[in-house]
Amino acid sequence: MNVLVTGGAGFIGSNFIRWMRSNAPEHRLVNVDALTYAGNLENLSGIPESGRYAFVRADIRDRETMHEIFSKYDITHVVNFAAESHVDRSIVDPEVFLTTNVIGTQVLLDTAKQHWKTAPDDKYSREFRDGVKFLQVSTDEVYGALGKDGMFSETTPLSPNSPYSAAKASADFVCRAYHETFGMPLNITRCSNNYGPYQFPEKLIPLMIHNCMIGKPLPVYGDGMQIRDWLHVSDHCSAIYAVLTRGISGEAYNIGGNNERANIEIVKKILRVFGRDESLITYVKDRPGHDRRYAIDNTKITTTLGWAPNYTFDQGMDETISWYRTHRDWMEHVLTGEYTAYYEKMYKQ
Ligand code: NAD
Ligand code: TYD
Repeated sequence: MNVLVTGGAGFIGSNFIRWMRSNAPEHRLVNVDALTYAGNLENLSGIPESGRYAFVRADIRDRETMHEIFSKYDITHVVNFAAESHVDRSIVDPEVFLTTNVIGTQVLLDTAKQHWKTAPDDKYSREFRDGVKFLQVSTDEVYGALGKDGMFSETTPLSPNSPYSAAKASADFVCRAYHETFGMPLNITRCSNNYGPYQFPEKLIPLMIHNCMIGKPLPVYGDGMQIRDWLHVSDHCSAIYAVLTRGISGEAYNIGGNNERANIEIVKKILRVFGRDESLITYVKDRPGHDRRYAIDNTKITTTLGWAPNYTFDQGMDETISWYRTHRDWMEHVLTGEYTAYYEKMYKQ
């Protein structure tokens, strides 16, 4: 496979590139990332450019560049991670969520269609080259919020509540339309909250770890009883590989780790590991439209593709906390913007 990995300098994308290098090194990876505030080439340190790995700084909305990349590298697979991904930012500035998450996905689909259809100019033809696939990395947030009971399955109607999840759901619909109308070989994966190394410290777990490290208050939204279903990022990566290589075209797959936890429980666990007092917890005003609970039914992927998560939550959290403790430099760099200097130095003309 010649895999175009978009958003490969972000949290999950960079973990996916590392996972592929260790577990399926025979494939060529082309990482396309615009390097927004969330993209950081330090996440890929130790992965040099080679015949098997290339980095291109580009925006997925840039049609011409996407076309050049498909031609130059003979792209056979796309794993589309590139997105604006933070719910809180989507509340402040929704527009970029729509342009990147929806239009960017459509530009990639269109480019793939142009390159992969055997008769690209025949609108009635649904024939695609053998061995090609588009994988859209979506989220469980497209299903909306749950009450105390129940779980999201792949047939749960989409009912997004935030500008972020509305944009992700829109992209899912565009993907579906490309499959139904044009016959595009594709899958959609919908994953629960990820945690692990290289997560930008604006998301719950790395933010709380960072604040514990420097003795800053831990801002818990509302009553802290919102529930998320946590999955270690490397388990997400192995699930994506399973879907990419064995998923049935046109199908969506939920990915979850059966680890429901209230936010406050996670915050208290982090405090305990750092030996900090619970007085650091500060309850702050709740996020508008805050989804109360997410939970994933992962029966489909476990029974049909034989995928299962490896990490228990305790093991994953212990490893993750110790990773951030031993990577304080990384934390400082992404927070100060020093990675821009790193980029200039590494890719200077
Ligand atoms: P992230 O914000 O850490 O990374 C996103 C990456 O995309 C960054 O490197 C950024 O520079 C890049 N990017 C943004 N706009 C771009 C553009 N226009 N063109 C090219 N690159 C662009 O996000 P993440 O947490 O790694 O999430 C990756 C994907 O997984 C997203 O699509 C997200 O919706 C989905 N997802 C995330 C989670 C989670 O818990 N983090 C859970 C389920 C699904
Ligand atoms: P987040 O990591 O932003 O992921 P998402 O909103 O996509 O689930 O938040 C996870 C949960 O933690 C969510 O319920 C909001 C809550 N939260 C806080 O209570 N305080 C914070 O400072 C942050 C960033 C999140």
